[in-house]
Amino acid sequence: MNTKAKKEDTSKKEDTKAKAETKGKDAAEPKSASKATKESKKPGEANSKKEEQGGEFREFFIDELKDILWAEKALLKALPKMSKAATGKELASSFDNHLTETEKQIAVVEQVFELMGEKPATKKCDAMEGLVKETESIISDTEKGSAIRDAGLILAAQKVEHYEIATYGTLAAFADAMEEPKVAKLLRSVLRDEKDSDKKLTALALESVNEAASEE
Ligand SMILES: [Fe+2]
Ligand SMILES: [Fe+2]
Repeated sequence: MNTKAKKEDTSKKEDTKAKAETKGKDAAEPKSASKATKESKKPGEANSKKEEQGGEFREFFIDELKDILWAEKALLKALPKMSKAATGKELASSFDNHLTETEKQIAVVEQVFELMGEKPATKKCDAMEGLVKETESIISDTEKGSAIRDAGLILAAQKVEHYEIATYGTLAAFADAMEEPKVAKLLRSVLRDEKDSDKKLTALALESVNEAASEE
């Protein structure tokens, strides 16, 4: 018992020592890294004033653009399944229209990449992956041909719209902060689209789908 306790105590001490060493190492790293960056930059290679001011923020913005581009492309794959699963013709055609809109939005996001001097690229969006999975469960948990399925599909689609609204709204504000008016304008045009889609889904739910679902 005593030996065990002693052992544990020793390992704790070693752990603390290791942590302290790592901490010391980490603290030293940024210094040398920043020194290396400073030294490697020749006068002719200096970044533009804009890039220098918001280099890290621009990088972060580009990363988030990659995330939403992945999300839109994932939605492009999910929409035909949603349309096929829908009971009402109106809901099915709203998903079909949204597919065309999503294709246009992808082109706009790619244009934003170009305006930022970057090649369009994607980065997996965990949130959209989750939302698409949720849509798939709604389809498998509801009866084919039912109004409840449509109410569920509208719920899933509106969650997607709200995710997109939050993303484009924030990215447009980021573009304002970086003084990129063309980028901000493009992102706000997509934001308007997303808000319109959300309103159409609300109207469809309130005009017919929810009542029909409540009577099933
Ligand atoms: Fe979209
Ligand atoms: Fe959307």
